Amino acid sequence: MTPISSDSLLAAAPTRNSSVATLQSVQRNYRRGKVTVQALKDVDLCIERGEVVALTGPSGCGKSTLLNVLSAVDRADGGDVMVCGLDLRRVAESELTLLRRRKIGVVFQDFQLMPNLTAEENIGLPLALDGQQDSDRVLHLLERVGLARRLGHYPSELSGGEQQRVAVARALVHRPEFVVADEPTGNLDSSNGKEILAMLMEIRLEEGAALVIATHDKEVASRADRVVRLRDGQVLGAHS
Ligand SMILES: Nc1ncnc2c1ncn2[C@@H]1O[C@H](COP(=O)(O)OP(=O)(O)OP(=O)(O)O)[C@@H](O)[C@H]1O
Ligand SMILES: [Mg+2]
Repeated sequence: MTPISSDSLLAAAPTRNSSVATLQSVQRNYRRGKVTVQALKDVDLCIERGEVVALTGPSGCGKSTLLNVLSAVDRADGGDVMVCGLDLRRVAESELTLLRRRKIGVVFQDFQLMPNLTAEENIGLPLALDGQQDSDRVLHLLERVGLARRLGHYPSELSGGEQQRVAVARALVHRPEFVVADEPTGNLDSSNGKEILAMLMEIRLEEGAALVIATHDKEVASRADRVVRLRDGQVLGAHS
């Protein structure tokens, strides 16, 4: 929980060009004993500022792997990865941490809230990790996701849909440039899934954040600006 100092490249250099992420010939291999899985094979992809990209493809095609590389959780084994103006091949681990804390928001299928923090504290966590506090912003987002009356509840005291609302607010609280969501509606019933997706889309639109969303849901894909299809670690083709 120790905040990292802000006298960094990230603080000094806001992203200026029109893309938030550019991948060129990206490879990611997982090795287990003698077996190597080529999870990403020469992936080229450009995510423009403010756009919504749906990432689709069969189970095991590399969607989560790609989101992990885009969100600087995982490093590529080959190729070039530029995210929010940073060349991720060249930056130190501390810069990656700052990038994730300040410019990227993440929503997971299984919510991944901190069990010992309330809804309010979970939403404020990205700010707290960066040594900041903004109660008005946290309360505004609690209201936006319809949970103003649940602010003191712990995750175990919230329904799955409510937990994902908290997770959406947490992903957006620090006004990221770029949000990645890995099957965010996968654990929810369809009406809850639709509502939460609508909230995610609306709030990120108001704030101008780009969104990359891995999904098996045709309706989610139909709401995106662009669909990118993966198969066996390769981009098959994209259309609007
Ligand atoms: N940590 C790991 N170690 C070894 N292999 C892995 C690891 N993580 C993923 N893989 C393999 O990499 C490939 C891509 O996995 P990934 O999780 O990115 O797929 P996915 O498209 O997200 O699938 P799903 O739709 O089921 O979530 C799969 O073949 C998977 O078995
Ligand atoms: Mg996955």
